[in-house]
Amino acid sequence: MASDRYQRAGTRERNLGLELVRVTEAAAFAASAHLGRGDKEAVDQAAVDAMRNAIEGVDMHGVVVIGEGEKDEAPMLYVGEEVGNGLPPEVDVAVDPVDGTRLTAMGLSGAIAVVATAARGTMFRAPNGVYYMEKLAVGRDAAHVIDLDAPISENLDRIAQARGVPVSDVTVTVLDRERHANIIKQIRTAGARVKLIPDGDVAAALQAAMEEYHAADVYMGIGGAPEAVLAAAAIKCIGGQMLCRIWPRTDAERDQLKADGVDLARIYTVNDLITSDDVSFAATGITTGDLLVGVEVGHLNARTHSVMMRARTGTIRYITAVHRWNRG
Ligand code: FBP
Repeated sequence: MASDRYQRAGTRERNLGLELVRVTEAAAFAASAHLGRGDKEAVDQAAVDAMRNAIEGVDMHGVVVIGEGEKDEAPMLYVGEEVGNGLPPEVDVAVDPVDGTRLTAMGLSGAIAVVATAARGTMFRAPNGVYYMEKLAVGRDAAHVIDLDAPISENLDRIAQARGVPVSDVTVTVLDRERHANIIKQIRTAGARVKLIPDGDVAAALQAAMEEYHAADVYMGIGGAPEAVLAAAAIKCIGGQMLCRIWPRTDAERDQLKADGVDLARIYTVNDLITSDDVSFAATGITTGDLLVGVEVGHLNARTHSVMMRARTGTIRYITAVHRWNRG
């Protein structure tokens, strides 16, 4: 008799992520029209407009928690904006219409459009003045051994041990930034491999957590705080762990955050960044990268490639859509 694990597919529960894919497809499509034209603002604007328009049709009552900034500086998808058609469920929404604006503007690989939702009130609301976080992300097998306060070599040893491989087989993705010179040196001294990326650490963090992705095992370094919440949503679905800590860029920023009562020592886990299991995540490739193929434009149609995930079930779906230019 077939085991009942085969029975699990085909639940009747609604999957919001499937609708979110259309939102990231729209953003990716619009951004790709500006691919390689050297204009970051145009890339971002097109994606924001398209995402805002598409998200309006989704059956949800969303409030943007991670968005394009405050209301006065961002006319659309600003923090606090209500999105969706107002029907249930009540959700928090995190958007990044383009993670990799420069990549898109330069025609480089690895840009994606991203949206995540979580039950209302369960997504991390970054305090004012928080822009960056230290991050350390790994897959399920090493989720319980990492420690943001431990030396890099110790973390790498523990990760290698948890995976049953030598440290020389561990690959760490790091954003290629001056601020990471010391981290990169320490990783190399420990004997691990470094994969430098120019941008796009949402994909880097979630790929570190993905069991079927073998090009990197760890994501480490300082990146955007909004991107941390988006990556946390994905890791919540995939399994694995990401530890984060707020990283002030300057002494002045540090002093201000302290004065505002922000706890700069606190280490956030994925479950601190998203406190419910009601999480959906969708991303569409804009330019081809390790995670997703980018928007492919042909003379009769265009194709988009997306991934969507849901925390409740842990299901990961890859969706290729063919968009016809003309149906006549
Ligand atoms: P944008 O596309 O919004 O510019 O973000 C790209 C990105 O590489 C993120 O993935 C990352 O978290 C952040 O920028 C890092 O910031 P910085 O470029 O300032 O180091």
